[in-house]
Amino acid sequence: MNEIAPVAEAFDLSQYISSQENKSFLRFLTCGSVDDGKSTLIGRLLYDTKLIFEDQLAALEKDSRKHGTVSDDIDLALLVDGLEAEREQGITIDVAYRFFSTDKRKFIVADTPGHEQYTRNMATGASTADLAILLVDARNGLLTQTRRHAFIASLLGVRNVVLAINKIDLVDFDQTRFEEIKAEFETFSSGFDFDSCEVIPLSARFGDNVTNRSEKLSWFKGPTLLEHLEQIDIGSKHHSSEFRFPVQWVNRPNLDFRGFSGTVRGGAINVGDEIVVAQSGKTSHIDKIVTMDGDLISAKDGQSVTLTLKDEIDISRGDVIAPVHSRPDVSDQFAAHLIWMSEDAMLPGRPYLLKCGTRTVGASVTEIKHKIDVNTFDHHAAKQLELNEIAFCNLALSERIAFDPYEANKDTGSFILIDRMTNETVAAGLIWFGLRRATNVHLQALDVDKASRSALKNQKPVVLWFTGLSGSGKSTVANAVERKLHGLGRHTYILDGDNVRHGLNKDLGFTDVDRVENIRRVAETSKLFVDAGMITLVSFISPFKAERRLARELMDAGEFYEIFVDTPLADCESRDPKGLYAKARRGEISNFTGVDSAYEAPENPEIHLKTTAKTAEALADEIVERLLTDGFLGQNKP
Ligand code: ADX
Repeated sequence: MNEIAPVAEAFDLSQYISSQENKSFLRFLTCGSVDDGKSTLIGRLLYDTKLIFEDQLAALEKDSRKHGTVSDDIDLALLVDGLEAEREQGITIDVAYRFFSTDKRKFIVADTPGHEQYTRNMATGASTADLAILLVDARNGLLTQTRRHAFIASLLGVRNVVLAINKIDLVDFDQTRFEEIKAEFETFSSGFDFDSCEVIPLSARFGDNVTNRSEKLSWFKGPTLLEHLEQIDIGSKHHSSEFRFPVQWVNRPNLDFRGFSGTVRGGAINVGDEIVVAQSGKTSHIDKIVTMDGDLISAKDGQSVTLTLKDEIDISRGDVIAPVHSRPDVSDQFAAHLIWMSEDAMLPGRPYLLKCGTRTVGASVTEIKHKIDVNTFDHHAAKQLELNEIAFCNLALSERIAFDPYEANKDTGSFILIDRMTNETVAAGLIWFGLRRATNVHLQALDVDKASRSALKNQKPVVLWFTGLSGSGKSTVANAVERKLHGLGRHTYILDGDNVRHGLNKDLGFTDVDRVENIRRVAETSKLFVDAGMITLVSFISPFKAERRLARELMDAGEFYEIFVDTPLADCESRDPKGLYAKARRGEISNFTGVDSAYEAPENPEIHLKTTAKTAEALADEIVERLLTDGFLGQNKP
């Protein structure tokens, strides 16, 4: 009963398929500000290459009449924007890839949602692109945004750029205006090392010079945008990288099988090749390359496989398998370019999460070497980074990771930073080199350790971290606790904000950046005190959750007690022991906590003290009692 397709037709079909397969691929992305016509341009390309199906077209005509910003014609932007709205925002950046093809080539366009967060999305789309189309509005010419996008494209290794001067209809197809923008762009882009840089006038809305030549642009002798995209030689300048295999998970369905699953990120590997686990330095040979469709003898860049090894060696998620003869760097410090993508400024010293390949570790920026002015390429000193700023920085990680310079491998050489509170991606990073100082400084093993030091004192070390507004009573309560512990023969030390700011931290003021550094130093200092076996009392406003969490994580589990000294602002202000609130209200002190600088109250402190209900002595007794119950004070008599 089944109809069998005529042989001739089947033959044509397979020929058609193979002709499609032989076409080269061009990956590109479009960047521009919201109003530059990015969506319209993509819509136009899809429409003119007949990639919009009839039913979509009918819907589009209807929508255009309803919402369209374009009088009678179809608003092509609606097609693309309609799809965008459905996209979710997660911790990994989502970029939709659209496919289309012509007789000459297949295309993948990274369609990056183009609203406020364009830089962030652009960075993701650009990391795999052969070419970037920078869109400008002919009326506005180059904007800082355009220069920033060109800069990011070059940083990410995009080799080819098109400056598309859109809305040329709105300047009456004026050649002089085109030449002006072109000249400006050529001066600007001469600072980059692009392989090609084409400037093309067009009107995405009316279709002039997108896929069809336009009489109105008869003065323009260059190609249409599509011709250019079809013809451009993206060559083989991409040098092939070395084999890298970030392990995604350890596959152990039964005791007889142990494989490492993941995606090859660079180069190729064969059965029998000798490999090394970058972090541990352990070596072995590839036994099998397993896939759903059977075993392979080799695997190359982009393939998802499971590797088994000849020897049983310890490997876990996040490890990188590499050839023995070309190992990635392994370090916990490196220098990198950071593209900052969050509304909240980057503050050196603040803890973030860093995700590189399949590995996620704690990280902070230890130094901003310089930030880069995207208009002039000048380097400037900076204390913090704002949204969309680009800087060269040193980073320190909580653990050593395997990585490559971005130039050598875009996957193992790039990372994102994630905010620990919101899970938002706050930066994209491109690694340049590991820092020597990290490789050459090793921890010194000591014979006398924390346990022996504290045993001598008959106590368990702990950090009592008092946080609260200025004037809330932190120091008063901490002082009473120390007096009582001292009376019990316990060995204590108190680190108090006002005192430490006279010595170790006398170089710091009260900006957000300085407060982060203030707390980072005190947290590190209290870690040393705990290591010395002391009951350590810390009394700092410590207004930010992120740094209190940093302090907590520096200590071993159970060693950190966050004590929220909870006094309403109005009470602190009416007490005003140092007269500082009055000064702050008069505007004589700026960045004063509670007045014009934020205090982020703890959500789950170990101890919550409401100072309005009890005296400092009573509150101090509660804390000592708690230390006793929790076993920090050893036997009661020393
Ligand atoms: S923190 O925010 O960085 O933790 P820290 O506890 O070291 O602050 O110092 C706070 C003390 O500095 C306050 O108790 C107050 O005496 C004094 N001080 C001076 N200027 C300010 C300010 N702008 N904000 C808060 N405290 C200030």
